[in-house]
Amino acid sequence: MSHTNLITLNRWLLSETHKDLAHRLEMANLMQGIQLACKITNNAIKRAGFEQLFGLAGITNVHSEDVKKLDIIANDAFKMALKSTREVFCMVSEEEDSIIPVPEGQSGNFVITFDPLDGSSNLDCNVSVGSIFGVWPKISSDKNFSEKDVLRKGRDMIASGYALYGSATMLVLTLGNGVFGFTLDNTVGEFILTHSHMTIKHKGQIYSINEGNSVYWDKSTQNYVNHIKSNEGGKTPYSSRYIGSMVSDVHRTLLYGGIFMYPADSKSPQGKLRFLYEVAPLSFIVEQAGGKSSDGKTACLDLVPKNIHQRNPVFMGSSHDVSLLEKFHAEHT
Ligand code: AHG
Ligand code: MN
Ligand code: MN
Ligand code: MN
Repeated sequence: MSHTNLITLNRWLLSETHKDLAHRLEMANLMQGIQLACKITNNAIKRAGFEQLFGLAGITNVHSEDVKKLDIIANDAFKMALKSTREVFCMVSEEEDSIIPVPEGQSGNFVITFDPLDGSSNLDCNVSVGSIFGVWPKISSDKNFSEKDVLRKGRDMIASGYALYGSATMLVLTLGNGVFGFTLDNTVGEFILTHSHMTIKHKGQIYSINEGNSVYWDKSTQNYVNHIKSNEGGKTPYSSRYIGSMVSDVHRTLLYGGIFMYPADSKSPQGKLRFLYEVAPLSFIVEQAGGKSSDGKTACLDLVPKNIHQRNPVFMGSSHDVSLLEKFHAEHT
């Protein structure tokens, strides 16, 4: 394979000349931490079979989920790697009940939210999983954080992204100036730019939802899904694809178009996915790629969470498809 012009993530971050040098250096340093955490997590997943890392850790988290051993390994990796960048003011993790402080003297300017391992129910059967992160500028001027630093409007994010531990390991991110994909080249241990200015189709042909919940769906979701599955008027029914890890389903939606949905229903009145470290970061990516992300009525990025683990319904993907969903939603609420 010819290594003619490898653009590593580090080189790309430093060349982002639309930001002043000081900000570029801070962001490059912060992303070093994200890259390290993703490489550690990627390695642990690839070695899980030899090192008995599959299976449950024997504890439940704040969401009453059974925590996997790899959830903990990934969570520890993100906390360690991010603290050591000295760019982080405080953090929120899916796996931690409350806001994570940073030791005195290691504090920085950014608030980081992360889902260290997304789709962990897929781990033991070797189906792709991911990690998700969001970056906000801190608000507090003194050294103590408060809830106002983390209960933020999605639109205040300055960066977000995800790692996908799939057939290839990728880091997809945005700094607010388009979406870029980097693929891990294990021979050199670097994330290499492979997808510049990723954009999503205006309209897709794939819908992604857990049909096992259909008995709990409200009228608007029922009617919308029945509409896209039908061939009325000679239209082609949509294909169904559902992997069960949000990062994988959203990454496919980004590349192939269509709509990913986790609606509120009678079983999960707020939906299942968490705003700060699943919905908001991936909504930023989808909007930056020219798509839409909505709770059925409001753009997800315009929402402000009431608590750090707040859930909300989410419909994200091609703008035509999400807009049509919102029309069905408006007819039934
Ligand atoms: P996590 O593994 O971080 O807890 O997230 C799992 C989420 C998300 O990845 C996925 O879209 C959704 O759970 C799948 O939920 P269902 O199994 O209820 O469809
Ligand atoms: Mn979980
Ligand atoms: Mn998740
Ligand atoms: Mn998770």
